[in-house]
Amino acid sequence: MLNDPYPVYAALRDTDPVHWHEGLNAWIITRYSDCERVLDDAEVFVSDLRRIGEDVPPELLSLQTVDGADHHALRGAVTDAVRGFDLGAWLEESLRIADELAQKASGAEFDFAGDFAEPLAAASMCTLLGIPLAAEDTGFRSAQRDLMLSMDAGLAPERAEAGVRARGRLSALIERALADGTARGPLARVGSDPGDLHSRQLVNSLRSILVAGYSSVSSMLGNAVAALTADPDGPRAARRITPGLLHELIRYDGPVQAESRGVVRDVTLGGRRLRRGAEAVVVLGSANHDERAFPEPDRLRPGRRSRGHLGFGRGPHACLGSHMALRLGTAVLGRLTEGARLVRTGDPVRRPTATLRGLDRIPLRLEPAPGPDTDDRRST
Ligand code: HEM
Repeated sequence: MLNDPYPVYAALRDTDPVHWHEGLNAWIITRYSDCERVLDDAEVFVSDLRRIGEDVPPELLSLQTVDGADHHALRGAVTDAVRGFDLGAWLEESLRIADELAQKASGAEFDFAGDFAEPLAAASMCTLLGIPLAAEDTGFRSAQRDLMLSMDAGLAPERAEAGVRARGRLSALIERALADGTARGPLARVGSDPGDLHSRQLVNSLRSILVAGYSSVSSMLGNAVAALTADPDGPRAARRITPGLLHELIRYDGPVQAESRGVVRDVTLGGRRLRRGAEAVVVLGSANHDERAFPEPDRLRPGRRSRGHLGFGRGPHACLGSHMALRLGTAVLGRLTEGARLVRTGDPVRRPTATLRGLDRIPLRLEPAPGPDTDDRRST
């Protein structure tokens, strides 16, 4: 299931599209149309699980876990802070870091996940928020990993505590940058209002960006490169990195596989009666492979118009950083494959996480690309 969840999703979509999962104590929603409905209807399906009686500790309250006016205010504050930021300069800086990492990697075998995607995502997200991060900082990445593992706490409760500690460590990083005046960019702007500065939920929301940005971008890059290098005879079009191809890669094997919602009113979905107080898990990875929405869903088709995919979510809680992720991903993968080709030198190793799908390791070599006349069919 961790290695390849798509056949399991397909079976559920066919036989039990709104499935009661005893272990998770939640409904599992797998068809595109049902997932879309849940994400769009924030009156019935809420992100604030306190409204279904769950105990949400204050450290977890952020724009991702509140609804309505509170969500609107937090999302507005975060969007305003990012809006005044020079995204072009951020992208340039991210590309500079990518070039440096690629330079180190060129010629020899390297681990695309650990030696490239993760340090790049860490530096890029810290640059975005204006958090000073030492290049050799390994604590940041290990906290992020604990957090990614803890997203499966419904299946593996023993991972929950490390996730709470990791959140605390990342919040402390943000608070320290605010307190000692080293924060730059959006973080400094948010910090300029003393009322906001001490607002726990705002700090938690900035942490959400740090977590959502790092974990999704690093996992997306790994999944994308795994897909692009999986089939040496794959279509040549897959080697030209465009925003359209990136959308298709996220549809095909996106990092965010599932999101939770609380049901606050009795409702019928896919012929099943969901009672008030239940939890519903929207399986985005399954919706994106639903043959009712995407013909030949299990094939990576570079020319596909896959913008309706749910890989960035939908509705009021849809991804706040999708345009940044697309710009970053297209630029970085484009730069990496410009004049070079990525050649797999071993099998990828999957991270043992179902919610945030990604790789722990993908061994590759960067080789000079053959000239334009060569019909290179061996790699991407
Ligand atoms: C390919 C990369 C990315 C993917 C696939 C992705 C996916 C998602 C998804 C599916 C959601 C919806 C969560 C829900 O409905 O509960 C989400 C929310 C969010 N994402 Fe992303 N994301 C990516 C990159 C980023 C980046 C780069 C940032 C920040 C710069 C970011 C910030 C956020 C935030 C703050 C939210 C919460 C929005 C809210 O609850 O109002 N994401 N993301």
